[in-house]
Amino acid sequence: MTESVASESVAFPQDRTCPYRPPKAYEPLREARPLSRVRLFDGRSVWVVTGQGTARDLLVDPRLSTDRENEAFPAPTERFANVRNRRIALLGVDDPEHNAQRRMLIPSFSVKRIAALRPRIQETVDRLINTMITKGAPAELVGAFALPVPSMVICALLGVPYADHEFFEEQSRRLLRGPRAEDTERARDELDAYFHALIESKRREPGDGLLDELIHRQLAEGALDREELVSLATILLVAGHETTANMISLGTFTLLQHPQQLAELRTERSLMPAVVEELLRFLSIADGMLRVAKEDIDVAGSTIRADDGVIFSTSLINRDGSAYETPEELDFHRENRHHLAFGFGIHQCLGQNLARAEIEIALRTLFDRLPELRLAVPAREIPFKPGDTIQGMLELPVIW
Ligand code: HEM
Repeated sequence: MTESVASESVAFPQDRTCPYRPPKAYEPLREARPLSRVRLFDGRSVWVVTGQGTARDLLVDPRLSTDRENEAFPAPTERFANVRNRRIALLGVDDPEHNAQRRMLIPSFSVKRIAALRPRIQETVDRLINTMITKGAPAELVGAFALPVPSMVICALLGVPYADHEFFEEQSRRLLRGPRAEDTERARDELDAYFHALIESKRREPGDGLLDELIHRQLAEGALDREELVSLATILLVAGHETTANMISLGTFTLLQHPQQLAELRTERSLMPAVVEELLRFLSIADGMLRVAKEDIDVAGSTIRADDGVIFSTSLINRDGSAYETPEELDFHRENRHHLAFGFGIHQCLGQNLARAEIEIALRTLFDRLPELRLAVPAREIPFKPGDTIQGMLELPVIW
């Protein structure tokens, strides 16, 4: 059997068997690196990129597009296939339109602006941990901590009322995880209606968040239309809490499963930035960036044809043996701290400075304040998310 036949029989995406490792069934893809063919749910065959160098080359190649309205855009699930013809700001548009949208937002996510937010993040984290301590163990850490931290912070940054969090957290969950296509579609409609109403009320009574700035400057000046603004607000709100929440829950779980590394983190506080980078690499929670080729592309001895689908598996890219020594180990001292957990190229995560600050403050404070923190039930009983969505824990019962 040739390599390409062997890999083409691999279905993509698949559920992880261990919440912090890529599915074992992806092994043949690593052998056939840096890119090979896989089979999607509808039988369609697409490219999957697993080599880090090839991923970097392709992610800056303008011949690859993120335009979901293109019929040939790959759909990893049936749910995704049914809603792909709807416009998504930033992540769903190519340059030059993409650049125009991104330029409006960059100042709000700069290193300096995020550094100024740190006291607020710390305050939020402290308050949530105080509540957990007051209520006493056990606690379900996703609901009590991992989700509310980024949710409260992104609300403050955007100017979205946190009082609405149950509504938008539920819609985000349905948007990303369905389970049915109708759930995903309805969630999009609900979030659209919510933001149209919020924009209307903010036009009458301005607040001081990023959405207010966009309404009173870019929307008022005609640099953005209302549909675009609603789509931007949706991606910022959803990406702003669903991703980091998973890093906090899965990061906590992973550290508790690696007591030696956890002990190191406790004694050596200055390690924290390296801990965050290594967890981002190791967990690769956004495992599957999607593109479609607009033209033929010759790369690494293969030809990607126009209209071929291309998927980037971050969990495999971030374990590329030619980029990392002992990639399977959680090692806070590795020399190469670069990874593609936030993507690469023009769509590289806009919120990465914010995410880093939140993960660092949340994990450091959690393990400082609750030194006896441990799982309340055996690890194998704790449910985690399926492979076709952002990876993370569904629940995390803990005691201290
Ligand atoms: C640890 C948490 C996070 C991870 C792992 C993550 C991962 C990613 C990845 C892989 C991409 C690129 C997708 C692609 O190229 O197809 C991306 C894009 C994006 N992320 Fe994040 N993200 C995180 C947190 C955040 C936060 C807190 C925000 C806050 C608003 C955010 C907003 C965005 C936006 C707006 C984009 C699209 C950027 C563009 O197309 O120009 N993300 N993220």
